[in-house]
Amino acid sequence: MKFFIDTANLDQIREAQNLGIIDGVTTNPSLMAKEGISGESAILDHYKAICEIVDGDVSAEVISTDFEGMVREGEILADLHPQIVVKVPMIKEGLKAITYFSQKGIRTNCTLIFSVGQALLAAKAGATYVSPFIGRLDDISTDGLRLIEDIRNIYDNYDFETEILAASVRHPMHIVECAQIGADVMTGPLSAMLALLNHPLTDKGLATFLADHKKLNG
Ligand code: E4P
Repeated sequence: MKFFIDTANLDQIREAQNLGIIDGVTTNPSLMAKEGISGESAILDHYKAICEIVDGDVSAEVISTDFEGMVREGEILADLHPQIVVKVPMIKEGLKAITYFSQKGIRTNCTLIFSVGQALLAAKAGATYVSPFIGRLDDISTDGLRLIEDIRNIYDNYDFETEILAASVRHPMHIVECAQIGADVMTGPLSAMLALLNHPLTDKGLATFLADHKKLNG
């Protein structure tokens, strides 16, 4: 399973890249705003900076909600860097835009997916990635991981090439369970990835090894 980091923070992206654990980045307008990035040229420069740090795909989201606007924005984003994947919301105009982009060979990430029906439509339109938001479903007492499982099942039934990008990941067990289900990619915060590191027996074992070494070697 590929790991994408879900942030627009350059330091965190650099840290994850240096650890060698990420295969790409996802951003969204809220994450860009959190970093204080505003204005078209600053936004484009920021995406370029992200592409220069990582080797993999970088999702950059359109703001328009009409087909023409999405196409205009998406073409600018795709021209920016070969690693850019145009992120498009799951709305009717978005589906039209995904169809257009896929015919033009521009890669897309269909975002804000909360049902299998939406995931099926995105795949039919030729989305490169589909982003089901598992954490936000969990937030409203619905099983987010069950959605990943259901999409996996349907995509496998028909050999859809669209990759399942489990999004809105909140904690390490989300990551582990996405891998067990067979999500192609997960995107989440660095904190959730680093939490996978922790095990008390690792800490205890290391402390013992170091203490035993010290006894003989000072
Ligand atoms: C996905 O691409 C989104 O950026 C993201 O995963 C949303 O996560 P959140 O629900 O934690 O905001």
